[in-house]
Amino acid sequence: MKEAQQTLTYTIFKTSSELSNEDAALVEKARQQTSIAYAPYSNFHVSAAALMENGEMITGTNQENASYPVSICAERVLLGTIANLFPGMPVKTIAISYNSNKVKTDYPISPCGMCRQALAEYESRINKPIRLLMTGQSGEIFLVNVASHLLPLAF
Ligand code: THU
Repeated sequence: MKEAQQTLTYTIFKTSSELSNEDAALVEKARQQTSIAYAPYSNFHVSAAALMENGEMITGTNQENASYPVSICAERVLLGTIANLFPGMPVKTIAISYNSNKVKTDYPISPCGMCRQALAEYESRINKPIRLLMTGQSGEIFLVNVASHLLPLAF
């Protein structure tokens, strides 16, 4: 018998001014696009923005439904869009952000378990890691260089 351990390494940026111009632009896009999320039930507006290998930026937002379980998270809306617009193309980075009038928005969001599974599968589909930037409307930004590292012992 033996014990094993998996650790998560991530980088914390104090504000977006510490990011590269490319990452700062993606974070800004994710922050802005929360305004078009459809979240009338939770009032938690989430956006995910991807920078593709060809330099294009693609976004997705959460889409809720009166039948709550029908709702879909921003990250999975984004991955579906990417898969259809740019099948097989590597994704350099995804930035996620949120806005809400009910909670403070200066702490980084991190993806739900279902989205971690979806992100992990997308990495194996394109056979490339996806960098993931997590943030709120302001404040710190967390970076993981491989999105699937957020899901140890993934299925
Ligand atoms: N949500 C996302 O879009 N992404 C996440 O990573 C966490 C949660 C959405 C689902 C639901 O519409 C709302 O946020 C509240 O949970």
